[in-house]
Amino acid sequence: MISQKSIQEVLGLAQVQDIIEDYVSLKRRGVNMLGLCPFHDEKTPSFTVSPSKNIFKCFGCGKGGGPVQFLMEHNSVSFPEAIRLLAGRYNLTLEEDSKEDSEKYAEQRKLEESYFIINDFALEYYQNNLRNTQDGKLIGLSYFKERGYIDATIEKFQLGYALSESKALTEKAIKKQFKPEYLEELGLTSKKGYDFFRSRVMFPIHSIAGKVIGFAGRTLSTDKSQPKYINSPETPIYNKRKVLYGMHLAKNSIRKKDFCLIVEGYTDVISLVQNGVENVAASSGTSLTQEQVRLIKRYTDNITFLFDGDAAGVKAALRGLDIVLENGMNVSIVSLPEGEDPDSYIQSVGNARFEEYIKSSAKDFIFFKMDLLLSEAADDPIQKSKLIKDIIGSVAKLRDPIKRSLYVQRCSERLQIDEAILVKEVNKQIRKEIKQKDLEKVRLERQKQRADNSAPGAPPPSDVPFPNEPYPFSGEAEMPTNYHELDHYPEEQISHEQPTYKKIKHEYQEKDLARIVILSGDEMLDIEEEQMSVAEFVFVNTNALFQYFDNALYQRIIEDAFKYVESEQEQGTLTNYFVNHSDEVIAKFTVDSMSSPYEFASWNNIGVYLNQKMPDQNFTDDSMQSVLRFKQKKTTLIKEDIKKRIAQESDESKKELLILAFMKVQEQLKEVSDKLGNVIL
Ligand code: UTP
Ligand code: MN
Repeated sequence: MISQKSIQEVLGLAQVQDIIEDYVSLKRRGVNMLGLCPFHDEKTPSFTVSPSKNIFKCFGCGKGGGPVQFLMEHNSVSFPEAIRLLAGRYNLTLEEDSKEDSEKYAEQRKLEESYFIINDFALEYYQNNLRNTQDGKLIGLSYFKERGYIDATIEKFQLGYALSESKALTEKAIKKQFKPEYLEELGLTSKKGYDFFRSRVMFPIHSIAGKVIGFAGRTLSTDKSQPKYINSPETPIYNKRKVLYGMHLAKNSIRKKDFCLIVEGYTDVISLVQNGVENVAASSGTSLTQEQVRLIKRYTDNITFLFDGDAAGVKAALRGLDIVLENGMNVSIVSLPEGEDPDSYIQSVGNARFEEYIKSSAKDFIFFKMDLLLSEAADDPIQKSKLIKDIIGSVAKLRDPIKRSLYVQRCSERLQIDEAILVKEVNKQIRKEIKQKDLEKVRLERQKQRADNSAPGAPPPSDVPFPNEPYPFSGEAEMPTNYHELDHYPEEQISHEQPTYKKIKHEYQEKDLARIVILSGDEMLDIEEEQMSVAEFVFVNTNALFQYFDNALYQRIIEDAFKYVESEQEQGTLTNYFVNHSDEVIAKFTVDSMSSPYEFASWNNIGVYLNQKMPDQNFTDDSMQSVLRFKQKKTTLIKEDIKKRIAQESDESKKELLILAFMKVQEQLKEVSDKLGNVIL
C-alpha cells in the first residue's frame, strides 16, 4: 500500500504534458497542445492537452482526465500502478504503509535501475559495433542489408552486432565501473568473465515501455552444432513469460486496428513492420503464456496467429491456444502458402496483398482445428472420438456462453453430432473444470493457512474457514468486468471495459440467489439422479454468467458458498459461516437476509420462507426458480445488448455472427421462459 501522503505528492508533481509526450507527439496550439488521439483512430488531431489545467481531453472520442487517468487508460494499469510509474518518472520515493515494504521496494528499484543502465550501455555498444567497426559493417550490417532491412528499420529495432573478441564488451563495461556481478546476472558476461554474445547479430528485447530488458543474438554461422539464437537469462527486469517481442512498437497499432498478429520469429516482426504491418508481435517460438495473453488483452480481444505454410508444429501449437480462449479472446489462424514464413511472404507480395491474404484466409481457431483434425481422422472412429473430445475441451474453455452455444451449433453441423449431446458434453466438461479449479484453490489456501499458522509468532488460527482474500478473487484473469455498482470496492479494481447495458442496475435476481445460498446452500437437491447441494446448483448455473453480474458481492457469496460446501466443513453450518464471515459486508448482508424477509419478496413469496426454516420440498423449487429468473433477466439484457450491437455494426460478416448470436439467445430465452412458466404455475 502506498501511503496517502505519497499519493498526494505524486499527484502534485505529475504534469500531464510530460507524461503524454512519452507516447504522443504534441504540437503547441495557443495555450494548449494538440496531437493524434492514442485512444481512437483519427487523421486530424482532436486530442487536446492543457498544461495549465493539467488535463487532457479528446474531442473525438470523449476520453479525458489527468496524468494518472492517462496512464491508467493508455497502459491499462491500476491506480497504484500508475502512481508507481509516475513516481519512477519523477524520481520520487514512495512511502509504503509498512516501512519494511518501502525499503524493499526502493532497493528493488535501485537494482533494476542499475540493470537498465547496463543494458543501455550494452545496447549502444552493440549498435556502435554494427555501424562503426569493420566486422560489424562487413558481417553484421551486410547480413541485415541482405535480408532487406533498410537503415530506418535497423534504427527502429536498435539492431546491433557482437564482435568475435572474447572480452570486448566485458572489459569496456568494467572500465566504466559497472559491477561484474551485475554483468553476469544480466547474462552479458559469463561466469568466467567472457562475453556471452560473440559473433552474433543482436536483437534487443524491450519492455512494453520500450526499455531494453534483454537481448537475443543470432549466429551467422551455418554450423548446426551452434544454437541459432541465444538469449539473455531471466532477471528481475526480464521475465520471459511476460514479454512479447516488438510489443512496445505494436501496442498503439494493435489498439487502433483492434487485433494483434502473432508470429514466431524476431525477423518476422521486423519484416512486417518494415512493410507497414505494425500490429505484430512475436511469441519467440513458444506457445503463448497466460501473462502474454493478458498483455495483449490490454489492447485488444482479437488475436490472429500466423503459421508457416509447412509448419509441422501447427498441431502442437494449436494445443497451446486454449489458453487464449480461456481469456475470452477471439482467435483466428492464418496459415501461409506452402514454404513461406511471414518474413518471406510479405517481402515477396508486399503490404497490400499480405493484408488482403490475412483478411481472406483467417479462419476461426476452433473451426480451423476441427477441419485439420477431421481431415486427419477421416473415417477412423477412434480418431474421431478423440477429436470430438478435443473440440469439446476447446469449446468449454470459452467464457462467453453465447459464443459457446454458437460453436456448439456449428460443430454439431460439421461433426454431424446431435447438438443436445454436444451441449451436455460441454457442460459436463465445464463443471469438471470448475470443480477442479476450485478444489485446487481451496487446497492452496489451506496450505497457505497452515504455513502461516506454523510460522513462529503467527496469530492464532482464525475460526473463519477461508482467509480474507481481496475482491473479487486474487487472480487477474478471473476478475469479472463489472464493479461499477460497488462503492465499497477499491477504485483500482474497477475495470474500464463494461458491457454497454451495464448502465442500469439489475441486481435483483443476483441478490436473491445470494440469499438462497446463504440460507440454504448446504441443503441437498436431487438433480438428474444426482445429489447436489443448493450452493453447487446455483454456482454451476450462474458461473457461465459471472461476467454479467452487476454486483460482485453476490457473485462472491455464491462462490464462497460453493467453496464452503465443496470443502465439506464439519464445524458449524453454512449460515453460521456467513454470519461470521471475515468480510464485514458479507456478514452484514447475511444478518439482513436472515432478519428482513419482506424487503425482497416482491416477485414471489420466497422471502416469506426465508426467515423461517424452509419446508424441505421448497428448496428445489425455490432455487430452480431463482436460477431461472436470474438466467431470464441476464439473457434478456444480453439480447438487448446484441440488438444494439447489430444496429451499430457495419462489418457484414461480424453482423452476421451477431445475428446468429441473437437467434441463439432468443432460443435460450424461450427455453428458460418455458421452464419458468411451468415452475410458476
Ligand atoms: P526461426 O528459426 O523461424 O527464426 O525461429 P527467425 O527469427 O525467423 O530467424 P531467421 O529468419 O532464420 O533469421 C523462430 C523463433 O524461435 C526462437 C526465436 O525467437 C526465433 O525468432 N528461436 C529459434 C530461439 O529462441 N532459438 C533458436 O535456436 C531458434
Ligand atoms: Mn525466418
